[in-house]
Amino acid sequence: MPNPLHGKNIVLGVTGSIAAYKAADLASKLVQAGARVDVVMSENAAHFITPMTFHALTHRPVTTDLFDPHSELAIDHVALGMRADIIVIAPATANTLAKLAAGVADDALTTTVLGTVAPLLVAPAMDAHMYDHPAVQDNLARLRNRGVTIVGPEGGRLASGLMGMGRLTDPEVLVEHIKLVLGRHGDLLGKKVVVSAGGTQEPLDPVRILTNHSSGKQGYAVAEAARDRGAAVTLVTTPVSLRPPVGVRVVRVKSARDMLEAMLDVTNQADIVVMAAAVADYRPVAESDHKIKKSGETISLELAKNPDIIATVNGPFVKIGFAAETEDLLVNAETKLRSKGLHLVAANDVTATDAGFGVDTNRVLLLDRDGKVEELPLLTKYEVGHRILDRALAMVGKQRA
Ligand code: CTP
Repeated sequence: MPNPLHGKNIVLGVTGSIAAYKAADLASKLVQAGARVDVVMSENAAHFITPMTFHALTHRPVTTDLFDPHSELAIDHVALGMRADIIVIAPATANTLAKLAAGVADDALTTTVLGTVAPLLVAPAMDAHMYDHPAVQDNLARLRNRGVTIVGPEGGRLASGLMGMGRLTDPEVLVEHIKLVLGRHGDLLGKKVVVSAGGTQEPLDPVRILTNHSSGKQGYAVAEAARDRGAAVTLVTTPVSLRPPVGVRVVRVKSARDMLEAMLDVTNQADIVVMAAAVADYRPVAESDHKIKKSGETISLELAKNPDIIATVNGPFVKIGFAAETEDLLVNAETKLRSKGLHLVAANDVTATDAGFGVDTNRVLLLDRDGKVEELPLLTKYEVGHRILDRALAMVGKQRA
């Protein structure tokens, strides 16, 4: 399953803000993800960045002037609007927001917007005082009420030297929002997917924890894949060094017991539950109130068994777990499938260097209750996420308790 930008027709509107240069990065990221990007610039945008920049990045004509049919770069805005899967305006100035809100069509971009039924995503960028002006806020509210997705602006240092709201949202984050909008038509639309991720942290004293090498990457990738297919996703995560996918509801936990509580809470309406977290099987019997001081040459830790989260969480959903193994992969995975009441288990050999902990790829076996074993090749964790979701979706509504 390719990413949701692949093969999509994106009209990128660029208007006259100093942040226009960042639109070049956005265009480049969209093209790299396989989208066909048609840039439409306002006249003022050309004061900040040239059409040639976008032409070079997108390998496509750039529209700048509605009334110049002889221009080599001009193309038919009506056709553009009709075939667009989404129109993204980044950066959008206060002036453009006003025109969009009022339905003015006096240039190539605003005319294209009026002539399309494609979703519209707008990323405003302007000085903080302008952004705060009631006229701008009113225009944003009108656009929002009309179903337009408004992303940003962000707070920070502005070109004027002011600190405040007005910075264009980072292109990397804008790409995520574009995926979120495009995913609304995915096959998981209307489905609730819960994913757990990361290694649990079991407190030993105020400064120490017991944890493991889980990076959270596989769980985050499943959440992202589900988001890209239109699911309403809840990600229950321990502290990891990853940014959660945009559009996903995040519940932050630390210990296995926190995670169990959160999972019991968020799975009650779920259709699919994917337990990708690496849960500590044991925790220190007691958490010391004080930092444990250095003493003899050896000390002992007494550990108590943690609850088995996925075995405890039950309901009318498709329940999927992972099996991290270092030996006897299939036999151990099958035992986990049965003992935890799973519908599908994704088993991986965590001793492999190109799969499992920390890396971006994974090689898993998918084993179901009928004993069917699907051996997936080495894939990105995102692709593994899609393959798991393919199987899960086929089981939704048909699974046995
Ligand atoms: N799991 C869980 N709660 C636990 C331990 C594991 O929900 N206390 C889940 C994991 O998230 C995973 C599956 O159970 O989806 C299998 O986890 P794994 O660590 O492979 O197995 P364990 O049950 O911990 O068994 P062992 O450590 O003996 O291999």
